[in-house]
Amino acid sequence: MGNDLKLRRWCESDCRTIYEWRVDPSTMRWCIDQSMFSYEEHARWFAAFLSDSGRCGFILEDGSNPVAQIRFDPAEMPGCYRISLAAAPNLTGKGYGSSILRLACHTEEIRRRAALLVAETLHENLPSQKIFVRNGFIQAGQGKSGSAELNCWLLPLAVVAQPLPIQFFAEPVWLEDIEKILSATGLAFPGDATARIKMFLGAAVSKEELYSSTLLHLNVSDSTLLDLAMRFPADLKLPVEFYNPLTAVVQIAASLSYLQQG
Ligand SMILES: CC(C)(COP(=O)(O)OP(=O)(O)OC[C@H]1O[C@@H](n2cnc3c(N)ncnc32)[C@H](O)[C@@H]1OP(=O)(O)O)[C@@H](O)C(=O)NCCC(=O)NCCS
Repeated sequence: MGNDLKLRRWCESDCRTIYEWRVDPSTMRWCIDQSMFSYEEHARWFAAFLSDSGRCGFILEDGSNPVAQIRFDPAEMPGCYRISLAAAPNLTGKGYGSSILRLACHTEEIRRRAALLVAETLHENLPSQKIFVRNGFIQAGQGKSGSAELNCWLLPLAVVAQPLPIQFFAEPVWLEDIEKILSATGLAFPGDATARIKMFLGAAVSKEELYSSTLLHLNVSDSTLLDLAMRFPADLKLPVEFYNPLTAVVQIAASLSYLQQG
């Protein structure tokens, strides 16, 4: 890796490079979505991406050579963005993946848009695990996509002066994990009955409880859905599907602090 690294936004002329990197077998094997697509399909997707102000992609250059790329797409909740990245297939293992992750996540642009970054990587993808851990991402359990096992990653970007109290109604085993992940992210903490925000995970509740105080209801029994969001301060198209309940809880907490600040 040289000393002349420069991060810049994607532009039209990156279309072919990003396609070639994406369909290279050494990148493909680590993609969660293994479907193949033509260059024409990619070019349409790329043009739509560039014209969408809600999304954002960066290239890392070493000298004038493109060496890695990263993109940020809106995740499930407002203020949360999902990362996908790749190093140039012939240039992996040289530190470019880690560098683009570090540089892009802390740009002014991303800090302005995102309270929380999320990512998922295939369980066996050791290089990606290394770069996420090295750059301060917190592992938030596992998830599944079809039969593939995934690791879920979170990076809170918002500096929250006063973490939100949320009262949780959940099995003790979930409460323990929720407490740990919230303390690691610093976005919220498990509050008592005075907390304005209440979140039910799985546990059956009476209609009365549901309509008198519930803000959010996560169904953890089979998949992880947010199936009720009364008085949530943004429009959400329900149900919202998450990779696991912990990433759901943290995205919701990040989203609430993001919406309150905005
Ligand atoms: C994940 C990825 C972006 C990492 O980029 P990179 O430039 O290779 O990362 P780094 O050079 O910073 O190295 C990461 C670590 O993984 C190791 N590594 C990289 N490629 C490796 C390989 N093929 N086999 C074994 N280890 C490897 C590196 O040695 C390094 O470990 P170390 O610092 O302890 O020596 C890159 O491997 C890649 O593009 N993979 C395909 C796409 C992908 O998996 N994206 C992530 C999911 S969104």
